[in-house]
Amino acid sequence: SPPKICVVGSANLDLNTYTNRLPVPGETLHAHRFTMGYGGKGANQAVMAARLGADVVLVARVGNDLFGRDMLAHLRTEGIDTRRVTSTDGVPTGTAVITVDDAGRNTIAVTPGANGLLAPADVDAARSAIESARVLVCQQEVPIETNLAAMRLAVEAGVPVVFNPAPASTTIPAEAYRLSTVFCPNEHEAAVLTGKPVESPEEAEAAARELMARGAHNVVVTLGARGCVVVTARDVTALPAPAVEAVDTTGAGDAFIGSLAFFLARGDDLMTAAQRANRIAAISVQSPGTQTSFPRAADLPADLVE
Ligand code: RIB
Ligand code: NA
Repeated sequence: SPPKICVVGSANLDLNTYTNRLPVPGETLHAHRFTMGYGGKGANQAVMAARLGADVVLVARVGNDLFGRDMLAHLRTEGIDTRRVTSTDGVPTGTAVITVDDAGRNTIAVTPGANGLLAPADVDAARSAIESARVLVCQQEVPIETNLAAMRLAVEAGVPVVFNPAPASTTIPAEAYRLSTVFCPNEHEAAVLTGKPVESPEEAEAAARELMARGAHNVVVTLGARGCVVVTARDVTALPAPAVEAVDTTGAGDAFIGSLAFFLARGDDLMTAAQRANRIAAISVQSPGTQTSFPRAADLPADLVE
């Protein structure tokens, strides 16, 4: 049977604008393309895991508006269990205003809307989904108290927790580290959390050690085009990413996390799971958009999903 994954997190409507370069303050630029897409770190990670073949329950909130209804229909099309996605009166669905330049770099401004109302009570209502999952996945676009409630339930039930501290914040409660089976920041988030530069695999390892000293059991630091560094109590491995031409890196981190969760849930060890997640993230940067660029199991080489 397919591995079960529970994702607690955000769902956003992404407003993607493509420009030659990122605008500077006060500047008006002509963009050459605009698209709307389904996004939000939680929904992205859920969709990635579902496309690889997981049975995914998403715990989220959308507004009781056009975007929210559209989002629910979309998530169902992706085969995601949306019984714990609550349509919320009086607040808009979360949005992300995204600008992508010709080098595939982006800036993102997120308005949480309904995501900001995802509460510990929503997690309690999803208790059985969390306790019966093979992996729980959380990020930081919903209130931290909600994440902590979910992570506590998972850990008490012996369910491994993948915590993606994205977007970056300078402080994370000590308990969140201790509840993280796999703590998985990107280079920027790792730098913000440790207050030290994280660019090379060596710096990523040093940051990972510090995050483990705070209580994380294992740390995976993603390094964009340079792949990732996996640090466990026993070993350290730098896993380079395949060299590809990036057109849009938006959501690549989510492709990585959703894949990592899938491979862990089906029984791969952390090293193997991270290596495979690297390859899937590299596929996602080669086409525009977030979920629109996430591959399905059927499109992947056999050795990746065998
Ligand atoms: O990680 C990418 C995501 O960040 C986008 O889909 C956007 O919604 C923001 O949440
Ligand atoms: Na992409």
